[in-house]
Amino acid sequence: MRAERRGVALLAALVSVLACAPADQPPPSQVPSAATSTPASAPAPTATSPGPSDAGPGAPGIGDADFPHDGNGGYDVTHYDIAVDYTPKTKRLEGVTTITAAATQALSSFNLDLSGLDVREVTVDGAAATFTRQGSELTVRPPRPLADGGGFTVRVSYAGVPKPIQDPDNLGSYGFIPTGDGAFVTAEPNGAKTWFPANDHPADKATFDFAITVPAGLTALANGELAGRPATSGGKTTWRWRERRPMVTYLATATLGEFELRQGRSAGGIPVLAAVDPAFESSLEGVYKTSAEVTDYWATVFGPYPFDSTGGVVDDFAAGYALENQTKPMYGGFDPDDGITAHELAHQWFGDSLSIRRWKDLWLNEGFATYAEWLWAEHKGKETAEAAFERQHRRPAGDSIWKYPPGRARPDDLFNQSVYTRGAMTLHALREEIGDRTFFDLLRTWTAEHRYGHVTTDQFVQLAERLSGKSLDSLFDAWLFQPRRPA
Ligand code: ARG
Ligand code: ZN
Repeated sequence: MRAERRGVALLAALVSVLACAPADQPPPSQVPSAATSTPASAPAPTATSPGPSDAGPGAPGIGDADFPHDGNGGYDVTHYDIAVDYTPKTKRLEGVTTITAAATQALSSFNLDLSGLDVREVTVDGAAATFTRQGSELTVRPPRPLADGGGFTVRVSYAGVPKPIQDPDNLGSYGFIPTGDGAFVTAEPNGAKTWFPANDHPADKATFDFAITVPAGLTALANGELAGRPATSGGKTTWRWRERRPMVTYLATATLGEFELRQGRSAGGIPVLAAVDPAFESSLEGVYKTSAEVTDYWATVFGPYPFDSTGGVVDDFAAGYALENQTKPMYGGFDPDDGITAHELAHQWFGDSLSIRRWKDLWLNEGFATYAEWLWAEHKGKETAEAAFERQHRRPAGDSIWKYPPGRARPDDLFNQSVYTRGAMTLHALREEIGDRTFFDLLRTWTAEHRYGHVTTDQFVQLAERLSGKSLDSLFDAWLFQPRRPA
């Protein structure tokens, strides 16, 4: 493979760059708000262990009423250490995931999300724990209850053939998806649980270490940067990646297979990695250059790039979508144009660095990334954002986006066109109302104040009002919450 030698040399260069990077850990991720719903389907553990008398089971959901089983209550993950060994020929995965977390209540048991796969062993702080499975809930009972506020480590050993989630009418295939030569791993909204045990909801962010073992000759791509050279022995290569900035579970990836790589730095000095399946070899240069140029440009518009590297990955699995995986957007079976590249890289600020606490606020990701496409076209002199807005506003009054209020994304139709397009129109209407100077100041203040954290629609409205000195309730109400076309 032609690109391989150069790829190896550039990987070594990136490793040496990373060795010089400061090793300080980011602050622990925020504690999610307390669970407010307790779905009935969870196994009911019986409390027999001695320990804090107030210890009870952690909730089987994190408290997002629209997705009551997603995530879990009672603890906050700070770090995932994921070691997986995948054999494309048999589609079998063997994994050991070690989770570092802090209890937010005294716990007699707690849940993880895991879909399919056989669990072999669970330990908590090194001691064997009992566990039960029901649906996607893995309930772990440590030998002794965990104290409120205490840190703990849970290690899960598991194996099997991962099954992606299939939702043909709506979300398509997502999670750990086998491909001809490996796997394409894109998990929004809740497919992380198809390949590692997780608190699988964006309200809990954590840092990640990955060690992905594949047959020698294949490449494994995860988030962040390489932590050492890929090491080969016994016909297998282990690729180690580290994402030291907090990340939500749906952005974690382990896309693997045959890839051609191109690495370097953007003009602005950000490390860039482009990877393409050999079927998309002719896209490699374009993905590299466009990703570098877009990342640098967004840093001038949205504020400093939040992560330590950028790039893009094209695989030959026809997912029908792209996903903004942190540091490495994935394009499922197509050569991305500059518009979708602008979209996925805008998500690095909106969605990845700033994450939603509840799925209903998804327009804070998709509306912003769609507006970024309009800003990109404006930057390139193709079409002004104003013209794009007008073009959309001309949709007839009966068009479905006017019936779907984008400020409340629906669990049965999360990625509705309204969340994208009417979400973007909301931002343009706001820009018109408060003027360019305040609008772009708002975007940069927003990304700075909530870097690596969580955001809600209310917080955005409040910041817009604070910076503009205007009452904006009726504007946001008409654009985000009414089932009709705003005037
Ligand atoms: N966030 C992605 C994008 O708009 C869309 C992901 C859709 N997920 C899915 N399973 N279809 O860039
Ligand atoms: Zn998007």
